[in-house]
Amino acid sequence: MTDQNGTIESHPLTGDDDGATYAPSAEFRAQANVNDPSVYWRAAEDPEAYWADQASKLKWTKPFTEVLDWTNPPFAKWFQDGELNVAANCLDRHVAAGIGDRVAIHFEGEPGDTRTLTYAELTHEVKRAANMLTSLGVSAGDRVAIYMPMIPETIIAMLAVARLGAAHSVVFGGFSAESLRARIDDAAAELVITADGGYRKGRVSALKPTVDDALALNGGEGSVQKVLVVQRCENDVEMQEGRDLWWHEEITAYDGEHTAQGFPAENPLFILYTSGTTGKPKGILHTSGGYLTQVSTTHRDVFDLKPETDVYWCTADIGWVTGHSYVVYGPLANGATQVVYEGTPETPDWGRWWSIIQKYGVTIFYTAPTAIRACMKIGRQVPEQYDLSSIRVLGSVGEPINPEAWRWYREVVGAGTAPIVDTWWQTETGAIMISPLPGLTALKPGSAQVPQPGIAATVVSESGEPVPNGQGGLLVVQRPWPSMVRTIWGDDQRFIDTYWSKFGDVYFAGDGARLDEDGDVWLLGRVDDVMNVSGHRLSTAEIESALVEHTSVAEAAVVGADDATTGQAVVAFVILKSQQTQLTADDAEPALKKHVAAQIGAIARPRQVFVVTELPKTRSGKIMRRLLKDAAEGKEIGDTTTLADTAVMQTISARMREELGNK
Ligand code: PRX
Repeated sequence: MTDQNGTIESHPLTGDDDGATYAPSAEFRAQANVNDPSVYWRAAEDPEAYWADQASKLKWTKPFTEVLDWTNPPFAKWFQDGELNVAANCLDRHVAAGIGDRVAIHFEGEPGDTRTLTYAELTHEVKRAANMLTSLGVSAGDRVAIYMPMIPETIIAMLAVARLGAAHSVVFGGFSAESLRARIDDAAAELVITADGGYRKGRVSALKPTVDDALALNGGEGSVQKVLVVQRCENDVEMQEGRDLWWHEEITAYDGEHTAQGFPAENPLFILYTSGTTGKPKGILHTSGGYLTQVSTTHRDVFDLKPETDVYWCTADIGWVTGHSYVVYGPLANGATQVVYEGTPETPDWGRWWSIIQKYGVTIFYTAPTAIRACMKIGRQVPEQYDLSSIRVLGSVGEPINPEAWRWYREVVGAGTAPIVDTWWQTETGAIMISPLPGLTALKPGSAQVPQPGIAATVVSESGEPVPNGQGGLLVVQRPWPSMVRTIWGDDQRFIDTYWSKFGDVYFAGDGARLDEDGDVWLLGRVDDVMNVSGHRLSTAEIESALVEHTSVAEAAVVGADDATTGQAVVAFVILKSQQTQLTADDAEPALKKHVAAQIGAIARPRQVFVVTELPKTRSGKIMRRLLKDAAEGKEIGDTTTLADTAVMQTISARMREELGNK
């Protein structure tokens, strides 16, 4: 595992690698979309030609003549003189090609309600929504915030915004009013699209009240003019006269006539906020032509998609980048049939996912290691009650998959034969960057393995030198790629500083990695103060600042401690203010957990909060998080000689061991 100051050797969860590899079967290989290994060197010889070829599979209203402009690094322009409409590429194009009757979305609501939308129907709905948004004042260049559950209207809303050349900013429905507001303000969105609520864990999880709270902050002043509300759960919501409108009432006024206009390839498509090393989330900006090119290419080749016969299912929420790229844009650009499920895997019981696979005959399944580990804990007897024989490709994303989970996934879900594509990428990369190709790669459990054709990624030392195979280092991308982040919204300097200042014109991903003797990539976790909890990115600084905003907290340090199910878990150490009377050491833990959840969102809720009287600091006053992480994991405490007060760590460590021992 990595640490802020230390070496990068192995990942704690991938330690159980037994060296076995799994080559594609002759049968699979013969039918695979990509089965000629020369694709790698051909793309490496002329990456621009490779990407131009992929881009030309899309429908351009004005063809591009220039592939890449990299004259002003790190600000890339791909296909910049070309024009296209992203939504029309995902919809109208397929209807025009005669596949309008193909199912685009099999929607499964958590309570069991279902809805099927063909490409023709989805196109019709998006056109109506685009007309509705136009009359609400949305036009090219605007930003629209979307705060929704996993229902078809979320996809319809995103595509309608894209169709008009505006940019969406989808905020995950688990984020708090404060977090939502910060994102609305940063993007200066004038319209929010939300729902009364969504179903989660058998209950209604209200959304509209959070939007109301968000908009009431700062004395109710802000950019938002209108709030469009989809009715999903019929829970009670307040509608503010003049501001709030029901989607189902408004939409009746609009028909399905709408001609899509082409927009420049570099027109913003979306902003998606992600945690960085400081408290303020970064608005990752993605644009149109390059993004759509790479998400559609990787979706087709990495998952070996056969749009005529496959039923694809990615379990990610649309509020994260995986939902953007591999629920919305990739699958729809490819004319795929997919399942969209609203709820959680354990509702009403842990058989839910497997029953959905059986019901729809899912052939390609894409999920996160944390979910696989949770299912493993429940036991294989649950999936074994279902017919999962339709599965032919499995995917993993969000964090390293430990070989034990990999083998379980392949055996129990993939009948011992389905290839698993372990896909490494980030919000910033927009699309898959490193992954096996299922018809070509001999799979190694725990490794994401190979940079995709047209992608140049490697591992370097702190000083930017290539490291020998077998040794840990930092993952970098050496050449621009079509779906790369274009900037941090409103903050070009932060974009440069975060990703491009360490090694010049080379993209620094923030991940530790190692190349093995075959040159395959093994990811070793983040090297910065970003945690990965259940495949979600959280910043230690953001949680620390939420904690110190509590009136009783004087100081806080947060670490991501290794966790057998969630990959990492948030562990907080706090010093309470001595003069305060509101919070005692005993009620601090539940109160502060709740406080963090209310400030940021439930995903950031710490697993543990420890009240301490001092934090380990260097003589220059820097908190030694590495030591706290060791303590939180019940490990031997490393070198404490640089600490101002070495006794602090002994006390914390003794307490932690006691707590962990008692668990
Ligand atoms: O640390 C890497 C980890 O997730 C980070 C990106 O998080 P986010 O932007 O939220 O996007 C997640 C979904 C694409 C990376 O910096 N990560 C993602 N996929 C993998 C991974 N680590 C190891 N193996 C993976 N397959």
